[in-house]
Amino acid sequence: MDIYEAIYLRRTVRVFQTKKIEMETLKKILNAGLQAPTNDHMRYWDFIILQDQASKINLIGSVGQNRTSENALDLVDAWGLVDTYQREMYLEAISKQYQMLLNSGCLIIPCFRQKHSLLKPENLSSLNGLASIWCCIENILLAAAAEGIYGVTRIPSGEDSLHLKNVLKIPSDYEVPCYLALGYPEEEVRKLQQHPINIEDRMHFDKW
Ligand SMILES: Cc1cc2nc3c(=O)[nH]c(=O)nc-3n(C[C@H](O)[C@H](O)[C@H](O)COP(=O)(O)O)c2cc1C
Repeated sequence: MDIYEAIYLRRTVRVFQTKKIEMETLKKILNAGLQAPTNDHMRYWDFIILQDQASKINLIGSVGQNRTSENALDLVDAWGLVDTYQREMYLEAISKQYQMLLNSGCLIIPCFRQKHSLLKPENLSSLNGLASIWCCIENILLAAAAEGIYGVTRIPSGEDSLHLKNVLKIPSDYEVPCYLALGYPEEEVRKLQQHPINIEDRMHFDKW
């Protein structure tokens, strides 16, 4: 598939079929992740893969369970969101947080080595590890799209991070950037429209 086709096909999907992702396909997608640029050339990236419901339930705990479609509108108003596309996106997403992780074809927990505290960076370079793993994650999402597989990322909260590290026995010098839920999308899945942006409005020549 042409790279531009994969880029335009990739969209966030939160409702999946029960169909599993074949191991060879998963390896191919994750290997595409490993081709991403990296700050230190070493790609200390590991992927913990959860496929069965019991391990996913154990890992996810109560993530996102407190938010329902009934209180979504109140939340979106409370957050002061006014952009139509942005509101639509949150209204669609809010109630699906738990199910999207649980019902994914596979739930991936990417890990990256981070020697110093991520939350107390000395300078921008201190965040290189985080920046690099997100390049890897985008490669994974694009390669997945080329295979007809889509997904969604969710950032763990402080407590969720600790839970993830404990349950999965992640080494202390590794961090988890996100939950990465992948799967074959439900037939009728809604792909929301992105907020339209004219690239020429965002291009600045010589100065802002
Ligand atoms: C850093 C990051 C964090 C995100 N966190 C969440 C999240 O917590 N829950 C969720 O449903 N989607 C999450 N998303 C997915 C976005 O909601 C999604 O990319 C956005 O709605 C735009 O949709 P699109 O990917 O189809 O263009 C996240 C995406 C990124 C890049």
